[in-house]
Amino acid sequence: MSKALTYLAKTRPEAATHLLGFYKHSVQALDDKTRHLIQIVTKVTVGTERGLRQYAPKALKAGASREEILDAVLMAFPAAGLNKVLDAIDIMREMDLLPEIPEEAPATAPQRNLGALEDFPLQRMHSLRRADGDLLVYRSGVDSVVVYSARCPHSKANLCRGTDHGTHVECRVHNWTFDLATGRCLQPEGGAGLQVIPTLVQEGQLVLA
Ligand code: FES
Repeated sequence: MSKALTYLAKTRPEAATHLLGFYKHSVQALDDKTRHLIQIVTKVTVGTERGLRQYAPKALKAGASREEILDAVLMAFPAAGLNKVLDAIDIMREMDLLPEIPEEAPATAPQRNLGALEDFPLQRMHSLRRADGDLLVYRSGVDSVVVYSARCPHSKANLCRGTDHGTHVECRVHNWTFDLATGRCLQPEGGAGLQVIPTLVQEGQLVLA
């Protein structure tokens, strides 16, 4: 419940009870995914960024694909117009809720060499955009390096766009947080950890194993 609704529930409990009751009981036949996708259409049409940020991740959580979320944004076009649709696309891309721009297929096999070890920063997350899947590189010490798939284990958001806190990275979509030295999920407790990509260091170069 939004802070404003919580406020109303406390200051105008009778009105809030009827309002919340309407929300709760009026929609009965639609499943969660369909309901949240329709909410995206209405939030884009009305042009409410706050509503979009609140409800769009719920569609993903309810099982909608990024393609379906993009369709919902575009469905708003006849009523919302181009500017609101483009604004919504900016917001949703920032939240990593839309499909990636398709990469051109690499002409050759993906590069095994990820770069010189010393070029990766110490105790900062380094993102590597690759056609075969983005990676996160983390050096916790001069000689200790670990490479992860950039796919969030929760719902596959791209952690290259996550918030780098130095020792941990926070996914922007549902705020799962991962220890960068171990890949362990810190928040929520017991969540799946990052997928480690096997690598080795050969003559100062970090290469895929
Ligand atoms: S996709 Fe949900 S926390 Fe990353």
